[in-house]
Amino acid sequence: MATSMVNEVKGDDSVPKELLLEKHVSFLREYGQNEDNFEYGITDYLRMSGVYWGLTALDLMGKLKELPENEIVEFVQKCQDPESGGISGCINHDPHLLHTVSAIQVLCIYDRLDAINVEGVIKYVKSLQKDDGSFTGDKWGEVDTRFSFCAVLTLSLLKRMDAIDVDKAVEFVESCMNFDGGFGSRPLSESHAGLIYCCVGFLSITQRLDIIKRDTLAWWLCERQLPSGGLNGRPEKLPDVCYSWWVLSSLSMLGRLHWIDFAALEKFIVSCQDSETGGFSDRPGDITDPYHTLFGLAALSLMGNGALKRVNPTYCMPQEVIDKLELKPQILN
Ligand code: FPP
Ligand code: ZN
Repeated sequence: MATSMVNEVKGDDSVPKELLLEKHVSFLREYGQNEDNFEYGITDYLRMSGVYWGLTALDLMGKLKELPENEIVEFVQKCQDPESGGISGCINHDPHLLHTVSAIQVLCIYDRLDAINVEGVIKYVKSLQKDDGSFTGDKWGEVDTRFSFCAVLTLSLLKRMDAIDVDKAVEFVESCMNFDGGFGSRPLSESHAGLIYCCVGFLSITQRLDIIKRDTLAWWLCERQLPSGGLNGRPEKLPDVCYSWWVLSSLSMLGRLHWIDFAALEKFIVSCQDSETGGFSDRPGDITDPYHTLFGLAALSLMGNGALKRVNPTYCMPQEVIDKLELKPQILN
């Protein structure tokens, strides 16, 4: 376990010690609301992913009805580009794979895929695959393994994995595996827990977890736990609530969740709540946001918190939604 106290957070008696669910519900309900409706709230370029973070967090708390379904579905419709078929983060912005996957996750949670042009989305994802099997995030963007994950996450939810060359896509992800068992964004890039989640999730969806050096990678992941109980994303970095998700979900797919000290991690996550505003921040005392709120709650769910619905470690969506779609991402025992 890393013991460098330079990149650590100190304990503080004033931090919350209980899970403040009611506070989080009102935090998320009010976050996107402004003058007219939620379309004017969240930072423009993040709006679609923001909707996914808030909606999924609310659903895990059993409060899906707190957000206006019809308004949200209409917003997704307006964000689909009729030409490329891709979906943007906000009305009149350019489409991007990151927002396309969030939009499809939102529509699956609502069971409203009928609201958009699904064939257009499939065409868009297919158009982003390159000859070496990799994916770009949009028509300009650079290659990154996170986009390989977004591509198969989207297509598997739409039951259209046949639209891309899966073997080539696996070959590319495999070429990003490092000597420590981890993955980076491209071949020879440093291992990073967020990208490890993307690559393990990708291999879980494509049923190819066999190519992973399971215990080497699981060891690297469990070494992310610091004396504060929190997890970091790379050696020598500060702990951050979102890494509770990137690391735990990966360990869960690898069947090694028990290599983490749950009690210590729970204590760290709970200490990142704001007892006044609601929501979770990256570290105790920082400003809260829907992104860290989702990943804090989702990590608590993976550790079996009974107040929350079960989350699926591959899709970061409620397990009941994945079951309804009859999806069976690979999970090692
Ligand atoms: C950290 O990023 C996180 C990642 C690299 C993973 C991002 C994952 C996706 C975009 C896939 C979709 C996600 C879900 C849950 C379906 P960062 O840029 O904040 O890294 P840093 O902490 O090193 O700055
Ligand atoms: Zn973070």
